[in-house]
Amino acid sequence: MSDATADSVVLEARDIVKTYGATRALKGVNFAIHRGKVTTLFGENGAGKSTLMKILSGVTTPTSGEIVLDGAPVVFSSTVDARDRGVSIIHQELSLAPNMSVRDNIFLGREIRNATGVDYAEETRQTAALMRELEEEIDPSTLVEELRLGQQQIVEIARALSVNARILIMDEPTSALSASEVEVLFKVIRDLTSRGVSIVYISHHLEEALQITDYAVVLRDGAMTANAERSEIDLEWIVRHMVGDHYDRGSPPGGYEFGDVVLSVSGACVEDKNKGALLVDNLSLDVRAGEIVCIYGLMGAGRTELLEAVAGRVKLAGGDVKLEGRSLDGLSIAARIERGLVLVPEDRQRDGLVQTMSVGENLTLASIGSFVRRMLTQPAREKQIVQDQIRDVHIKTAGGRAAIGSLSGGNQQKVVIGKMLATGPRVILLDEPSRGIDIGAKAEVFRLLGEKASQGLAVVYSTSEVQECLSIAHRIIVMSKGRISAEFGPDVPKEDIMAASGEAVAHDAAIH
Ligand SMILES: Nc1ncnc2c1ncn2[C@@H]1O[C@H](COP(=O)(O)OP(=O)(O)OP(=O)(O)O)[C@@H](O)[C@H]1O
Ligand SMILES: [Mg+2]
Repeated sequence: MSDATADSVVLEARDIVKTYGATRALKGVNFAIHRGKVTTLFGENGAGKSTLMKILSGVTTPTSGEIVLDGAPVVFSSTVDARDRGVSIIHQELSLAPNMSVRDNIFLGREIRNATGVDYAEETRQTAALMRELEEEIDPSTLVEELRLGQQQIVEIARALSVNARILIMDEPTSALSASEVEVLFKVIRDLTSRGVSIVYISHHLEEALQITDYAVVLRDGAMTANAERSEIDLEWIVRHMVGDHYDRGSPPGGYEFGDVVLSVSGACVEDKNKGALLVDNLSLDVRAGEIVCIYGLMGAGRTELLEAVAGRVKLAGGDVKLEGRSLDGLSIAARIERGLVLVPEDRQRDGLVQTMSVGENLTLASIGSFVRRMLTQPAREKQIVQDQIRDVHIKTAGGRAAIGSLSGGNQQKVVIGKMLATGPRVILLDEPSRGIDIGAKAEVFRLLGEKASQGLAVVYSTSEVQECLSIAHRIIVMSKGRISAEFGPDVPKEDIMAASGEAVAHDAAIH
């Protein structure tokens, strides 16, 4: 739609300031949402994206500044108030009740009622219709805790859609979605915009965001630094405005010899509990000290199951895992961490962090065993570890004592990485660790892993982004249907990696 009304501004933030104690999260931001268009908000971790969206959806109030809806100033007293006026938000951190059904989560707080009470049949019908629209086979009565992370994200999206909002804010809606699920979401977004719904989209997957967006806005340190229409920009433009001209996408560390094999997986099998099929099918892999191995694959290729089995989270149905020549059979997760094998899990909300604890407590959580074992409390040493990790992993926080919930999404992810590195491991497994991490921080994490590798750490890094393999790996393993379908060195063309995974090779724009 190109007529003037279609392009008009529906919701506007004027000179918004938000402070949290000494932190100035937003420093006077102007931001406009256009009717029937997608506006993408880009910015580094902690730039203030989520904070701005929380203000525009009634989650929190600005310290100063004005919100203008349809040309008139408004004050949103709550999310319910904002929702009643047509603004709905999909949060970056999933906010579903795990022990409730998909249906009950979608209608929580706005149950459909009939003469006798809640009309569960109607709620079920509407939930099923939403799932069909999102092309996801999820039964409305399934408990949310039984869904994989990506499916939970779909439910979160369905809940926002069910409100029939005029303005829909999506804060990192695709971080756990597969490529085909993203396709479906984009179809839904196009359908919504064609009906006049306005979308705000936030993602650290820059190529993906470029595909869907009409307008781009870049936030940096709480201030808007750039603003343009889609036709005027490309990937380079975003990166330049996000992190400046000094961006370097990195390369695998070199100039040293690998050591002995530290991790040896032989004939590993993992069974699907429900169907009895093999999610990991007789897979063998050796990793040497100092080596960085990337495991590339599509969602469902068995990468997470492999890493979880190696880390002791799920049982092997066959095969063996050895660390420095000794079998890990029967050892608990904690015992494996003691031996020097750690996992940075896929789902940081559920597995990685304790939300009621501080940044510092979370950082030392996995290494606490060694403090206690020595029957000493060593506050000085503990404080040192916390400070080292905050510095090394570039965690943007007021300090070790800050609540974990006060950190931006990407910075929480960095805490999980820091926590595992703090144990001084011999082998680190990382499952899609870069989700939600900005492009600059990603480069920092790569640099840090490269440095640790050159000191002898063995790194196994699972990713569904080809570019990440090329930026970090000495060796690239492609997984498909639970098996290794190909193995490459670091100079392989992108297309070969994708083809080996069973993926259609997309002709996307890349940063050159
Ligand atoms: N509840 C809070 N208490 C204290 N500080 C907060 C709180 N919420 C956000 N902040 C701070 O405000 C700043 C902006 O955070 P915000 O979550 O908006 O970043 P973001 O751009 O969404 O980052 P990301 O890409 O990592 O999600 C950060 O410095 C963050 O630590
Ligand atoms: Mg955020």
